[in-house]
Amino acid sequence: METLQGLKRTHKCGTLREEHVGSEVTVMGWAQSYRNLGGVIFIGLRDRSGIVQVVFNAEQNKELFDKADTIRNEFVLAVVGEVIPRDAVAINDKMPTGRVEIRAKELRILSVAETPPIYIEENSDVREEIRLKYRYLDLRRPDMQRIMELRHRVAKLARDYFDSQGFLEIETPMLTKSTPEGARDYLVPSRVHPGHFYALPQSPQLYKQLLMLSGMDRYIQIVKCFRDEDLRADRQPEFTQIDLEMSFVNIDDVLEVNEGFMKLVFKEILGVDLKTPFRRMTYQEAMDRFGSDKPDTRFDFELVDLSSIVAGCGFKVFADAVANGGSVRAINCKGGGSKLSRRDLDALTDVVKLYKAKGMAWINVCENELKSSITKFLTQEEIDGILSTMQAEVGDIIMIVADRNEVVYDALGNLRLELARRFDLLKKDEYDLLWVTDFPLFEYSEEEDRYVAKHHPFTMPVEEDIPLLKENPQKARAKAYDMVFNGTEVGGGSLRIFNTELQQTMFEALGFTKEKAWEQFGYLMNAFRYGTPPHGGMAYGLDRLVMLLAGRDSIRDVIAFPKVKDASELMTEAPTFVDPKQLKELHLALEDITE
Ligand code: AMO
Repeated sequence: METLQGLKRTHKCGTLREEHVGSEVTVMGWAQSYRNLGGVIFIGLRDRSGIVQVVFNAEQNKELFDKADTIRNEFVLAVVGEVIPRDAVAINDKMPTGRVEIRAKELRILSVAETPPIYIEENSDVREEIRLKYRYLDLRRPDMQRIMELRHRVAKLARDYFDSQGFLEIETPMLTKSTPEGARDYLVPSRVHPGHFYALPQSPQLYKQLLMLSGMDRYIQIVKCFRDEDLRADRQPEFTQIDLEMSFVNIDDVLEVNEGFMKLVFKEILGVDLKTPFRRMTYQEAMDRFGSDKPDTRFDFELVDLSSIVAGCGFKVFADAVANGGSVRAINCKGGGSKLSRRDLDALTDVVKLYKAKGMAWINVCENELKSSITKFLTQEEIDGILSTMQAEVGDIIMIVADRNEVVYDALGNLRLELARRFDLLKKDEYDLLWVTDFPLFEYSEEEDRYVAKHHPFTMPVEEDIPLLKENPQKARAKAYDMVFNGTEVGGGSLRIFNTELQQTMFEALGFTKEKAWEQFGYLMNAFRYGTPPHGGMAYGLDRLVMLLAGRDSIRDVIAFPKVKDASELMTEAPTFVDPKQLKELHLALEDITE
């Protein structure tokens, strides 16, 4: 094995150009490719900056040539040589270094490599399980390296920008107190306190609020958060937030400083000028028009409420939905008649069923007739009402769902996205950013049979809704906001409660007894008594933001070592069983589990 003894890298592979012709360089990297054309060997040498071609000529140096002949893909090499121009026929303008090559004078083989289990190439279509098992190889791919660089740039922009706005980066603990609100905690047993557990933070929420109490004025942290919840394409059990909090602010102040950040990110990363201020849409409008609190407004197919037209109609499914307090809503799939077959409509019906709708009614507006299984139950007046409300024209298909409101929104909101996917309307180079505001303070959890906080229990209610906390919590609105980027929630936050009594009322509305609230959150409510500035903030999901900026569909592509659906990590195989000795030290015993 050879070493770097006496050698110093002078250039990165991808940086060599015609201006370097004639100079001696020392480059180091991996053999991307090798070709032996008889008397000449060409090696593509790759480092993070790119690839450069190295030439070994048998006539010029037979010993060096023979050594080069032992090189295989992914060997790690150091090469000393002269930069020379390529022959006119060999010029490759697709490669940034394609007008030059290095004529090797010295070669060191620093590390040999077995044939790698995956090809190291851009956008390779290797199965994700294999990529993740050999993630260190997968990360050698130029596209993955670019993403890691992009992620680094965004994090650096965040630090620089928020620093320029007077924010301090302050670290908060990773071993924290478990709280019952929110997602499931990851627990860490305490050795010193038998039977006691820390929780890994789901977010630094309360610490950052307490930092405002401490007079830190503005806080930022790029921080890992942990939530034991079911994974999806845009969710990881450990993920990273750009977390921030500000004192003495109203909603506009928080949104403004964050619009400034996004404007900078878009300019620096994508070269795109974002228009600020962003559009704001209330939660209710987002639900009514798009069936989602993270609306993708790059395309139409908006929801339309037909309830008043079909209330009391002859079609029982519609009439009952309205009578039971639900609604009947529809999407006009413009021009869908010629694009969607009967089988497509069945597939779309399956989509709405995934979201708990019992079915989907449709009206195909054809020349001179309507094709539909439901129009026979409706009067001409009702049919005309539907068609005119939907602004239906020949060639359109009206898709209708009747149910409880939540089901109707969810089913049609997702149907809308499915239609956009089918018609290829989700353009990755179109950027749609907006704020969703005026969220409800609570939502009803069927699982827990009580109200839970829609955002979190520290969110300030809209002032005039404070009396509703006791009377009609369902109607209370929150001073909360989400930032939505192409239909993904990339960030969210709120103004916070900053007084003990209101915080206590909030916990009561959430079903906490006074004792339980004080046991869990006493340190916060107590702190509020010692002079608390009004404050608010938000947190971005850094992984999601980078995913969208990189034009990727999976959050796993922008995390160096991500976890898969069952929350395991395929390379290290974490989580694993541990030595019984470790368990004993922690005073833990396993129940009904054998290795
Ligand atoms: P929230 O829970 O909305 O707010 O989280 C903020 C943002 O973090 C991202 N995010 C996730 N990303 C990947 N995987 C996950 N499992 C995951 N969960 C959330 C989302 C989300 O918008 N403390 C509050 C913020 C505040 O009020 O200031 C909080 O954590 O992009």
